[in-house]
Amino acid sequence: MSRKLIAGNWKMNGSLAANQALVRELLAGLGGTAPCDVAVCPPAAYLAQLQSLLAAAPTVALGAQDVSEHVGGAYTGNVSAAMLRDFGVRYGIVGHSERRQYQHESDIQVGRKAERLLEAGITPIVCVGETLVEREQGLTEFVVTRQLAAAIHFNRARLDDIVVAYEPVWAIGTGQTATPEQAQQVHALLRAQLEAAGAAPGSVRILYGGSMNAGNAAALLAEPDIGGGLIGGAALKAADFLKIIEAAA
Ligand code: PGA
Repeated sequence: MSRKLIAGNWKMNGSLAANQALVRELLAGLGGTAPCDVAVCPPAAYLAQLQSLLAAAPTVALGAQDVSEHVGGAYTGNVSAAMLRDFGVRYGIVGHSERRQYQHESDIQVGRKAERLLEAGITPIVCVGETLVEREQGLTEFVVTRQLAAAIHFNRARLDDIVVAYEPVWAIGTGQTATPEQAQQVHALLRAQLEAAGAAPGSVRILYGGSMNAGNAAALLAEPDIGGGLIGGAALKAADFLKIIEAAA
């Protein structure tokens, strides 16, 4: 198994001053090394600031929260993968449930976004996950495999280069985490789907996201198919984020 990846999704939080303080605390806590791969994904407006704050810290990679599905042109408000690359972005989250919900992003758009990132040399973090209603109706497998199928369709030749994040929507920001067994069950399913589509055995890191915190990270990360975490709320507090990084050692 490859090194685990702990990625912080800052969502629409932060300011120049708060970002600087958070990164300073994080880098001081890491002391120049990290026991796993680490990334922070600030709002796009702060990518330049983070690029400069992280310039001397190769242990923490820069990530973006979204990207356009288009290469460039008349798409007001959008940011292209090539633009992200200009700012040293190494990971790009695509298909986060908040974007699927509020921006009505489709599985196909998400697949194309991952494709744009790969073309630009950026690792996509493709998010999938079911809502509470879908889980209660027994649709978890149907929903997550449908979402992943679109990402596979557009990126079949590059499956080993993507990261997947399983984020049950009912666990995001709610304090209600999937149990390690619940998460592992879905991760194993996603891994089987990736490998059936041609991914090398064990090659794709599948992160868990949804109320992962300093207290529950170790148990989740101990599961065989959980290759890291996509962290929202707990990534905004350096002490908590550092504990999760330690748990991924
Ligand atoms: P949370 O968010 O850790 O605050 O639940 C995770 C995410 O949405 O990526």
